[in-house]
Amino acid sequence: MIVLGIESSCDETAAAVVRNGTEVLSSVIYSQVPLHQPYGGVVPEIASRSHIEKIRAIIEQALRDAFPESEEPLQEVDAIAATCGPGLAASLLVGWSAAKGLALASGKPLLPVNHMHAHLWSVQLDKGAIDIAAQYPQLGLAISGGHTCFVEATAPDHYQLIGQTIDDAAGEAFDKAAKLLGLGYPGGPVIDRIAREIPLEERHSIAFPQGKVALDHPLSPGLRAELCVSFSGLKTALLTYFRKNPPQNEAETARVCAAYQEAIVDAVVKRAEIALKSGKYKTFAVGGGVSLNGRLREALQALADRYHVPLLLAFPRYCGDNAAMIAGLASVGGALPAEDPLAWDIDPSLPV
Ligand code: KG4
Ligand code: ZN
Repeated sequence: MIVLGIESSCDETAAAVVRNGTEVLSSVIYSQVPLHQPYGGVVPEIASRSHIEKIRAIIEQALRDAFPESEEPLQEVDAIAATCGPGLAASLLVGWSAAKGLALASGKPLLPVNHMHAHLWSVQLDKGAIDIAAQYPQLGLAISGGHTCFVEATAPDHYQLIGQTIDDAAGEAFDKAAKLLGLGYPGGPVIDRIAREIPLEERHSIAFPQGKVALDHPLSPGLRAELCVSFSGLKTALLTYFRKNPPQNEAETARVCAAYQEAIVDAVVKRAEIALKSGKYKTFAVGGGVSLNGRLREALQALADRYHVPLLLAFPRYCGDNAAMIAGLASVGGALPAEDPLAWDIDPSLPV
């Protein structure tokens, strides 16, 4: 099955064509980061307007790249998939409406996709012939600017949320810290880079909280407090530290970044360890923008090696928001069940 995927949940306008779940025939991503940089975060109105300006050209490019010989490349795909949530309402609306329009015009099926589910699928893209069924039961971690969640998957289209952040997401924690430290947007990549200047053994020089969630904290059914995390205290601790000890030079800023990053990485790794200890998972899949973090990758690899569970990471081009993960997941039956998808609306707070 060949699927055209469309993604516009936040500040990337993306389209891609994927065959049978994993074979990426094309993937085009237009990043709006430079548009939002002056504001230190994503401005929804700017994001929405930019999606509207770009989406048509991005879709056309993805179709052309996938089928350079074809005069009517849209006719080559079997279905059209798009993110319908979670994300920014005015952003989601652009990609979802474009997909609806194409589906109506072409008569092809429309497949609504959950963005966070697709981040977990991203680890499968471009990996060649692999036995995907043998990867389950799988522990999944989707870690991005808007979410941090652990899931237990028994099949590509069947999973249960078992842990999550109860406040800020990991990416948000990186972004807010970078803003406070005057390092620009997005914060994750810059903190990742600056923290490397500090040797590993010196990276715990400032004690930041580990985000423990009280065992009696009220949680939705299925969630386990020991697999949940809170990053808002970490942000407050950084603010308090920053007020008392404003960094005087680049080396001090690097020390703060390294300790802060270590706290996020430790918090995530500790929860992952609790889950892996159960011994019930055949693989550990990690997707989402924050999975680009070098230190997190290194620490998760060490953990997975210790528990002899293969760690599945996406290629860097599929870690951040992209449409290949949307098309890929939809092409293996991972779209949301919908009787009449053309009547569906976007859902900015679609549950993971
Ligand atoms: O998955 P993504 O592209 O969009 C969302 O669905 O949110 O994730 C974006 C997030 C941002 O918060 C960004 O700071 C973070 O991913 N990020 C990183 C790194 N690269 C991107 N965080 C830590 N280290 C990185 N190298
Ligand atoms: Zn995302």
